[in-house]
Amino acid sequence: MIEAMWVEKYRPDKIKEIVGQKEVVERLAGYLKSRNLPNMLFAGPPGTGKTTAAIALAKELFGKNWKANFLELNASDERGIDVVRGKIKSFARTQAMGGDFKIIFLDEADALTKDAQHAMRRTMEMFTNTCRFILSCNYSSKIIEPIQSRCALFRFRPLENEEIESKIRQIVRGEKLDVTSDGMGAILYVSEGDLRKAINLLQSASAFGKKINEDLIYKVVAKARPEDIREILETALGGDFMKARERLRELIITYGMSGEDAVEQFHKEVFKLKIPEDAKVRLADIIGEYDFRLVEGSSELIQTEALLAQFVSIGKGIK
Ligand SMILES: Nc1ncnc2c1ncn2[C@@H]1O[C@H](COP(=O)(O)OP(=O)(O)OP(=O)(O)O)[C@@H](O)[C@H]1O
Ligand SMILES: [Mg+2]
Repeated sequence: MIEAMWVEKYRPDKIKEIVGQKEVVERLAGYLKSRNLPNMLFAGPPGTGKTTAAIALAKELFGKNWKANFLELNASDERGIDVVRGKIKSFARTQAMGGDFKIIFLDEADALTKDAQHAMRRTMEMFTNTCRFILSCNYSSKIIEPIQSRCALFRFRPLENEEIESKIRQIVRGEKLDVTSDGMGAILYVSEGDLRKAINLLQSASAFGKKINEDLIYKVVAKARPEDIREILETALGGDFMKARERLRELIITYGMSGEDAVEQFHKEVFKLKIPEDAKVRLADIIGEYDFRLVEGSSELIQTEALLAQFVSIGKGIK
């Protein structure tokens, strides 16, 4: 049997059940009370509740008929904007069931070209009486002004650790898991405000058993513990190149990390080191350079070791 995805199983059905996003939740609850919606633009990073909020609105407004009144589309449908507009037209043609309007949710609106956005705007105009549009994007600045000015803007924030933790605890109870406190710390560290990432990670880890600790989480995501990364950086800055290199190789093998993962973690940890600000600036610059080289396809071991070598020489200047 294929197990249900927890992101779906535990997706809130009601606006009030959304964690965090206080301002968004309050404003949307106000619309629910008046049973009317404007066109809306949901902007914010992945996994923070944009699709969830749109679906919860539809569920609360339309009850069990919600699916008949709700159309979810991906703006970056590879078959093109005309296919998207075609779907909108045929959906909008029929009357809403048990409500005054239907909701069209358009995901990844910022993936549309400017021309496609103008075409979209005309479609929105055509159906203003019978439909409400909710456009979702990561960056509102990529949406053309004529659309922005026709939509109420809602900004979704990366979720706070406590907010992610409260949702994860709900799932831990529901699935009868046992997550250690270092395991929870690891989940929060890796998810970076993205609740989808946190939930998917918990589900992947649970495939190995009910007990979930730090080691398991880092293995599942193929990342090293932050302490291990910091140790490597400090060893390199302290001048022991060979030891830093050996530790890095160990991590790459133990966790199955890629060179890019390693560099990304260096970037995350370097700012936490107790070294002068100007040294951090130089290290960040070097990390940027090696990140670029790796993206360009250079050898991972050679590049990560060259990066450590640079850290050694900067470390000499600090002492
Ligand atoms: N604020 C939240 N409150 C409760 N659950 C959430 C929240 N944000 C995300 N989730 C959970 O994470 C999953 C993914 O969230 P959602 O689909 O709403 O993300 P999104 O903001 O639309 O992301 P994307 O930009 O990638 O489309 C949901 O199924 C839900 O389980
Ligand atoms: Mg979404």
